[in-house]
Amino acid sequence: MNIQLNPLNEQQSGALTILSVGLNRDQLLWINGYFQGLLVSSGNTQSASTPIQAKNSKQLKILYGTHTGRSKTIAGKLAEKLASRGVEVQSVALDDYKTRQLSSESNLVFIVSTHGEGEPPAMAEDFYNYITGKRAPQLPILKYSVVALGDKSYKFFCKTGIDIDQALSKSGAKAILPILKLDVDYEDEAEAWINQFTSVFAEIPATPTSENPIAINAPKSEQYSRKNPFKATVIDKVKITGRDSDKEVYHVELSLEGSGISYEPGDSVGILANNPPLLVDAILKQTSLSGDEPVTLKEDTISLREALSDRLEITVLTRDVIQEYYEKTGNQKLQEIIENDGQLDKYLYGHDVLDLLEEFPFKLMAQDFACILRSFPPRLYSISSSQSAVGDEVHVTVATVRYSYKGRERAGACSTYLADRIDIDSQVSVFIEKNPAFKLPENEETPVILVGAGTGVAPYRAFLQHREASNQKGKTWLFFGERRFHSDFLYQLEWQKLLKDGYLEKIDVAFSRDQEEKVYVQHRLLENQKEIFEWLDNGANIYLCGDMKQMARDVQKTLLRIFENEGGMSEEKALEYLKTLKKEKRFQTDVY
Ligand SMILES: Cc1cc2nc3c(=O)[nH]c(=O)nc-3n(C[C@H](O)[C@H](O)[C@H](O)COP(=O)(O)OP(=O)(O)OC[C@H]3O[C@@H](n4cnc5c(N)ncnc54)[C@H](O)[C@@H]3O)c2cc1C
Ligand SMILES: Cc1cc2nc3c(=O)[nH]c(=O)nc-3n(C[C@H](O)[C@H](O)[C@H](O)COP(=O)(O)O)c2cc1C
Repeated sequence: MNIQLNPLNEQQSGALTILSVGLNRDQLLWINGYFQGLLVSSGNTQSASTPIQAKNSKQLKILYGTHTGRSKTIAGKLAEKLASRGVEVQSVALDDYKTRQLSSESNLVFIVSTHGEGEPPAMAEDFYNYITGKRAPQLPILKYSVVALGDKSYKFFCKTGIDIDQALSKSGAKAILPILKLDVDYEDEAEAWINQFTSVFAEIPATPTSENPIAINAPKSEQYSRKNPFKATVIDKVKITGRDSDKEVYHVELSLEGSGISYEPGDSVGILANNPPLLVDAILKQTSLSGDEPVTLKEDTISLREALSDRLEITVLTRDVIQEYYEKTGNQKLQEIIENDGQLDKYLYGHDVLDLLEEFPFKLMAQDFACILRSFPPRLYSISSSQSAVGDEVHVTVATVRYSYKGRERAGACSTYLADRIDIDSQVSVFIEKNPAFKLPENEETPVILVGAGTGVAPYRAFLQHREASNQKGKTWLFFGERRFHSDFLYQLEWQKLLKDGYLEKIDVAFSRDQEEKVYVQHRLLENQKEIFEWLDNGANIYLCGDMKQMARDVQKTLLRIFENEGGMSEEKALEYLKTLKKEKRFQTDVY
């Protein structure tokens, strides 16, 4: 071992001992930074940038608000980078952060996504309400930056981040860099921003604070990711809806062998698909381009056909795509659509790139056309298996998107890729998207109520496989809804076996089209309101997965009614109760 001997003479050693007696932690950190500065100015930059923690008194906290884990991952990467430059960095989830600390902070980075319809992720709700509310403090010493995650296909793109940025600016805090708004294809931009931020932050003088910094709880990057997906082999694919169903749901099993990939029940798998070939052909025909034209996307030059097939989104339109197309065409009708919220929403739902080209024809060069389109984001699917039961496999439950509009049959990109364009032994590019906000309770004795409609039942298959594989027989109650008992009861035999073996205590089903009047899961919840409330009152967790627009809203409304009816609560108290359940992570949702 190479031991560094004390290089100081006796007098210097004595002075150092006298100086250090009785110093508190903040004073030690300040002195540490002072000597670090001397070291840099003496030209010894090598030691100054040595990746050791607490070598510099410059401190920064990263506050993240995430639902599916992306913001946390970016927070982790930023923390790693800053720590390697000697910054004392702490990465904290927004629901663990005490807002009263705000006024003593010097440097904060917020990394936060937007969910629902322009809402903060559950873990960021309280902070968001505080900072955008009337009781927000003045923050004159704060320097901050905001990284906002979102998806341009939503109306309120990156709203949470934008609102936090504006609130901080209003409070007198100074932005280190302007807000960064990330769409779903975010990795490169996030990485470039981390580098830029690290350089800019290095130029800011250190401000000693009374905070307690240090720990880095950043997750290490996984080997396989959205940018570097694993090629999983299809080992099974079965249509699990009946012949007479008007839905088409597939159970697909993929092998992860050799990847070392691990996941937990509640996580999702990201799938990189290709586009429906008929749509690619029709688009090329409409543009009078052959498809052989070379186009450059990021650093790659490929044919236009390949770009339209694998790299660009053509089944879905976003506001940006219409805007870019308008800028090329100058078509006033397009401007009208963009400027009218109602018209825009209507246009975005159900129209695709071919509609745009047909309804507003314009001659474009291949490269210009490619530049207008959005890069093809992977689609996420709730994992319907548990590794403790299936080992190196991952299962998904996919409802095929097909609809007819304006006289043309249309197909969702990824769901029809899985339904029509892959088969057993095909290879599919995948990665795992962690979902820390949708997890079984740590205590296996905690009762769970699982509410899902359609493919919303997928993660519950994973939950129950996990419980069965680890022989956990906690109280479990499943509510499942679909259209018809005979054709749409997904995984019926598996639930029945779980009931028989005691891993599932109860199951209630709602088949909406088996009788005159429509019956949905929320009706079953209401019918069982007394017992539901008792379960919750006794500490049960409740989970909700599936359709965001209708089902999730109706179920939440029903829960509020149950709290009022059975808990004797006012409307306000019922809302408060629901909020507390969310805050305590006892009400978890995975809706899409
Ligand atoms: C966290 C998460 C988990 C998910 N889990 C699952 C899961 O377990 N199983 C599952 O099947 N899906 C799941 N999804 C949804 C999935 O990611 C895809 O969105 C879905 O499969 C559709 O993708 P696609 O590429 O086939 O369709 P796209 O190419 O994305 O096309 C969808 C678009 O088609 C249009 N459209 C669709 N239906 C109609 C209609 N009837 N009328 C008019 N327009 C219409 C809309 O504009 C819509 O935006 C999940 C999503 C998330 C975010
Ligand atoms: C159900 C759902 C609703 C969403 N709503 C919005 C939205 O209103 N605005 C937006 O910009 N992004 C929205 N998004 C996209 C997310 O913000 C985006 O996927 C982000 O990368 C997630 O980051 P996270 O993993 O840190 O939560 C939504 C995503 C989902 C699944």
